[in-house]
Amino acid sequence: MKIIIDTEENLAKRAAQRYVELIKNKPNAVLGGATGSTPLGLYAELARLCKAGEISFKDVRTFNLDEYVGLDGSHDQSYRYFMNHNLFEHIDIDINNTRVPSGIDTAAAAEYDKEIEAAGGIDLQLLGIGVDGHIGFDEPGTPWDSVTHVVELEQNTREVNSRFFNSIDEVPTHAVTMGIKTIMNARSIILMAIGSSKAEIVKKFIQGPVTTDVPASILQLHPFVEVYLDEKAAALL
Ligand code: PGA
Repeated sequence: MKIIIDTEENLAKRAAQRYVELIKNKPNAVLGGATGSTPLGLYAELARLCKAGEISFKDVRTFNLDEYVGLDGSHDQSYRYFMNHNLFEHIDIDINNTRVPSGIDTAAAAEYDKEIEAAGGIDLQLLGIGVDGHIGFDEPGTPWDSVTHVVELEQNTREVNSRFFNSIDEVPTHAVTMGIKTIMNARSIILMAIGSSKAEIVKKFIQGPVTTDVPASILQLHPFVEVYLDEKAAALL
């Protein structure tokens, strides 16, 4: 695992350069997308670079990690909506080449890994991390061999995410998420964590045992993971 510690602004710039390099070498790269607060700086930087002509997503395909069950893409808290508004509308990607698991047709989850495989597999998967160690919506206890599936969200995850909804009652109880195996199949991975609320879990997943109690700890066994941290998230390392 390679650890990169820098300011939030520089992390976004440095991570964006990884995308520039990747797409320069492979214009039809397959990217794994993530939502949440953490990737917003990176997405803004990718949009800026695309407008400046330094990167093109014309032939890129994307697969997002997860989606809330029950929200369709027009719901402003759906992850499809998030991706459209925070990235896809600001870059030159063909929207037909972007995939987010369906929160409505949950049976389609069974096909998601096959679709990723048919696209050639994910070249670079972006991840955030939950304070409980989740990646995607793979909560503690998720088996290592899991593929894309429907999960019940932990109460704590719903509470953390309720900041985006009017009340916790509106936060969906279930989600569709790539499994741990789906994520580990990516050829390379960038995990970003920002802020002091992530410091404890960052220490655990990097320096603690590999255990399903801390889903992100499996990344210790992946051959190409870069972890981008600000000083606060890295404080306990
Ligand atoms: P965040 O979410 O980027 O909003 O902190 C990360 C996650 O829950 O995976």
